[in-house]
Amino acid sequence: MKSTLTILLFASLYSSLKCNNVNPLIKLDLTSNSLNTKLFGNETYAPYGAMSGIASINVPAYSNGNDTYISNQSNYFYGVYTGMKWQCVEYARRWLFVRKGCTFDSVVAATDIWTQISIVQQVVGGKCFTLKKQSDGSKTRPTNESLLIYKLGTDMPYGHVSVIVDVLPNSIRVAEQNYDANYWLGNYSREIPYVLLNGSYYINDSYPIYGWISVEDNNQTYPLNQSTIDKITRQNISFPDFVCSKGVLHYCFSVYCYLLFICFTFGLSSMILRPNHA
Ligand SMILES: *[C@@H]1O[C@H](CO)[C@@H](O)[C@H](O)[C@H]1NC(C)=O
Ligand SMILES: *[C@@H]1O[C@H](CO)[C@@H](O)[C@H](O)[C@H]1NC(C)=O
Ligand SMILES: *[C@@H]1O[C@H](CO)[C@@H](O)[C@H](O)[C@H]1NC(C)=O
Ligand SMILES: *[C@@H]1O[C@H](CO)[C@@H](O)[C@H](O)[C@H]1NC(C)=O
Ligand SMILES: *[C@@H]1O[C@H](CO)[C@@H](O)[C@H](O)[C@H]1NC(C)=O
Ligand SMILES: *[C@@H]1O[C@H](CO)[C@@H](O)[C@H](O)[C@H]1NC(C)=O
Ligand SMILES: *[C@@H]1O[C@H](CO)[C@@H](O)[C@H](O)[C@H]1NC(C)=O
Ligand SMILES: *[C@@H]1O[C@H](CO)[C@@H](O)[C@H](O)[C@H]1NC(C)=O
Ligand SMILES: *[C@@H]1O[C@H](CO)[C@@H](O)[C@H](O)[C@H]1NC(C)=O
Ligand SMILES: *[C@@H]1O[C@H](CO)[C@@H](O)[C@H](O)[C@H]1NC(C)=O
Repeated sequence: MKSTLTILLFASLYSSLKCNNVNPLIKLDLTSNSLNTKLFGNETYAPYGAMSGIASINVPAYSNGNDTYISNQSNYFYGVYTGMKWQCVEYARRWLFVRKGCTFDSVVAATDIWTQISIVQQVVGGKCFTLKKQSDGSKTRPTNESLLIYKLGTDMPYGHVSVIVDVLPNSIRVAEQNYDANYWLGNYSREIPYVLLNGSYYINDSYPIYGWISVEDNNQTYPLNQSTIDKITRQNISFPDFVCSKGVLHYCFSVYCYLLFICFTFGLSSMILRPNHA
């Protein structure tokens, strides 16, 4: 028992050392959209920086003016980095921060969320939640409060990300930035139909979609509240270290697995040996 504890103590010390790597703060959330010709919302042009609408009670979206504009301006919300003004990734990250208190690591393009982001992390406390990816054409209906990820398209050089903010019987409603530059009509930017074909759900958009990504939080996340904001200010958090993401996760996991394996075999052999001593 004593040696098991020692090993476990060693394991947690070792992994906390190895896991505490600091991700460089890459402020390059290049994303884009397309099709300013197709009109959505109330069909009135919103200039760069104008609030185009508000979804999910308190998550405003701002216009990027046009999809070719790259502001190179970082946005911070209560001091926490949310992405480049006013790109689609910035909205997705800020939505998760405000509605679930979580954020995700930097990506170069919106489409990379599908391949590179496997967890979101609570800004305060650092708790990680895995993401569930449902490909377009999956057997599961599009999930509310998930991220809709677009593939690269001819006029979508970085793909696109929207947040699914409501799921109706035959359509989803999404909130987003930089899909177009129009004011919204209501508390969502677009309503996109989906179809059930032979048991599979397909989102019928004019751009190719990877699928939707939902946070497996088992109702354990909370919208950003004043006590969390106070902690962020006290701890001066601008962007968390993504301690349990990507390779680091696998590395830590393999260290744990290895040590658990040793503990297990150690425990097992002593159990097997015990009757011989009796
Ligand atoms: C669209 O919405 C904006 C902001 O609410 C408003 O100023 C504008 O008048 C609206 N345009 C139309 C055509 O309703
Ligand atoms: C939008 O407003 C409707 C009606 O007030 C409400 O039922 C719905 O939950 C809101 N959705 C979002 C995403 O804010
Ligand atoms: C896009 O918007 C930016 C900022 O508002 C502006 O400087 C630029 O001229 C616009 N480009 C096009 C092609 O409309
Ligand atoms: C932002 O950076 C890109 C690439 O460096 C550059 O092409 C673009 O002009 C910059 N935008 C502004 C508004 O300075
Ligand atoms: C989707 O989630 C929002 C809260 O983010 C909620 O108001 C809305 O009722 C949900 N829609 C469905 C269909 O569950
Ligand atoms: C429907 O799905 C079943 C099994 O998933 C498959 O065998 C069948 O060929 C499909 N039919 C069509 C029309 O795609
Ligand atoms: C998808 O939408 C297009 C255009 O609205 C329509 O022509 C097509 O039939 C739809 N596809 C399905 C499978 O419903
Ligand atoms: C989360 O909460 C909703 C409603 O409050 C409930 O329907 C759902 O089953 C809960 N999910 C889990 C995994 O506990
Ligand atoms: C604020 O959010 C935290 C989690 O981020 C939660 O533990 C706490 O209960 C919330 N406080 C209130 C007053 O809702
Ligand atoms: C807060 O963090 C920023 C950079 O992340 C740093 O420049 C600043 O000095 C810190 N402030 C305090 C009070 O620690």
